[in-house]
Amino acid sequence: MEITEKAPAKINLGLDVLGKRADGYHELDMIMTSVDLSDRITVRELENEQVIRLQSNSSFVPLNKKNHAYKAAMVMKKTFGIKKGVEIYIDKKTPVAAGLAGGSSDAAATLRALNQLWQLNLTTQELAKLGEQIGSDVPYCVYGQTARVTGRGEHVRPIDNPKKFWVILVKPSFGVSTPEIFRHVKMDKIQHPDIDALEDAVVNSDFDALLQNLGNALEAVTLAKHPLISKIKERLLASGADGVLMSGSGPTVFALCQQEKKAQRICNSIKGFCDEVYLVRML
Ligand code: C5P
Repeated sequence: MEITEKAPAKINLGLDVLGKRADGYHELDMIMTSVDLSDRITVRELENEQVIRLQSNSSFVPLNKKNHAYKAAMVMKKTFGIKKGVEIYIDKKTPVAAGLAGGSSDAAATLRALNQLWQLNLTTQELAKLGEQIGSDVPYCVYGQTARVTGRGEHVRPIDNPKKFWVILVKPSFGVSTPEIFRHVKMDKIQHPDIDALEDAVVNSDFDALLQNLGNALEAVTLAKHPLISKIKERLLASGADGVLMSGSGPTVFALCQQEKKAQRICNSIKGFCDEVYLVRML
């Protein structure tokens, strides 16, 4: 038997850093949403073997114990004492080290897929709890729907039926290391976005208020190291984008649009400037 699950990319409509915790992580307050740019995770039982075997179509995916999907399978095997082996195939579409939680979403999809393959009947909450052991973005990715996310990422409160917008994703050719960006955070320099106002805008489908309150406290930190991100933002705004923001710790920049035609126009005009451009929709 084999099971396939989608692993959608996420973006942060808002990301605030509230402080550094004693355990080294940062206390965050975020609005996250998922878009229809997805990897596909296929899990298949291995006969007569107990190992976790990884395969992928992408050379950027580590096929070892560092892989988040591998960690997800390990957590499931250990927690439920499962001896059976499993093969995990990662069909990669989401750019890696991009601020789009590609690896975390692969882990979440692996948890969902193994839940079915091994008939564990775990709830979304239970899977999200297991996801905490793998990475801070994994609990959100288990839900995979627009949510207010707090703590280090473990508290996920879904926001039902938000209005869906078009999203243009622009990924510069370099990657960014999340731990390195967090290491450079200086709490006294942080610009705090208004996450309450942003949540209200999302709940009320108020596009103007949403644009006004887009904000990412990590943006200035990543920008200081990678000025190209500013250029991409300027270029997107000059092309007519209503609101632009860096996602997560970067470097991907996204623009939001209400109309498909406009989104397509912006997408075409940025393509000459940056290689990796995706026109996607909020899920
Ligand atoms: O949880 P995850 O392993 O994905 O986090 C990667 C790194 O990002 C952490 O080791 C930490 O340096 C940083 N981080 C943080 N605060 C968070 C999430 C991540 O400082 N809430």
